[in-house]
Amino acid sequence: MRETEILRARDELAACGWTVLEDAPFLPHGRPDPEGVLRIATGFGRPSSRDGGREIWTVTPRTTRPGATFSIRAGGAGFHTDAQYHSRPEDVVCLFVVRPAADGGDTMLLTARDVVATLGRDPAGEVALERLAQPVWTWTPPDVFTGKAAAAVPPMPVLPGDGTVRWRRDNLGPLRPPHAHAATVLESGLRRAPATRLRQHPGDVIVIDNHRTLHGRTPFADPERRLLRVRLWADR
Ligand SMILES: [Fe+2]
Repeated sequence: MRETEILRARDELAACGWTVLEDAPFLPHGRPDPEGVLRIATGFGRPSSRDGGREIWTVTPRTTRPGATFSIRAGGAGFHTDAQYHSRPEDVVCLFVVRPAADGGDTMLLTARDVVATLGRDPAGEVALERLAQPVWTWTPPDVFTGKAAAAVPPMPVLPGDGTVRWRRDNLGPLRPPHAHAATVLESGLRRAPATRLRQHPGDVIVIDNHRTLHGRTPFADPERRLLRVRLWADR
């Protein structure tokens, strides 16, 4: 991968909150090369192995259990940020597309700025934004990872007002009714907000600012869909 392409992608990531590299050289002979994956990923940060004990995590359907976390089952995924259950989530998420689903599984992207703007136009949005800025929100780690991190994490804000976001709906900790209502208003806003939909191609690398941009995916059933995920710390 040429250094100029990585530099362009880093600029776009900083400006937009996400970027895509096309035809990236990590699939020699159609098969993923772990060294190639990490070489490209390190253009955006320092790989993290905190969850799952490895730097490269394969995102593919491995279970039909409906409560399983997004990366090991088929189906859609609502807008979320990764590692929201840690006090400090990784800064960047790279998704290396090995084999797109034959029937969906498109990546959806939405910036915190666009979420706030959408909620600002909602009659219930202002109150919801106040509650989403309060440090009262907690998340449970997926059981595929260890539960060690959960106890130490203090409650956090969802949208603290600095352009960042931390969110996932399905593993939220217990909420009082006003905050449960704010969660409903936010989820409704996420469905209306102007998201970007990316059709995946083998060789794509989707690079996401995990503090400023939510990601999700459209439904799919294809058991052969396969991505490789690398989470990164920006302090290289
Ligand atoms: Fe994710």
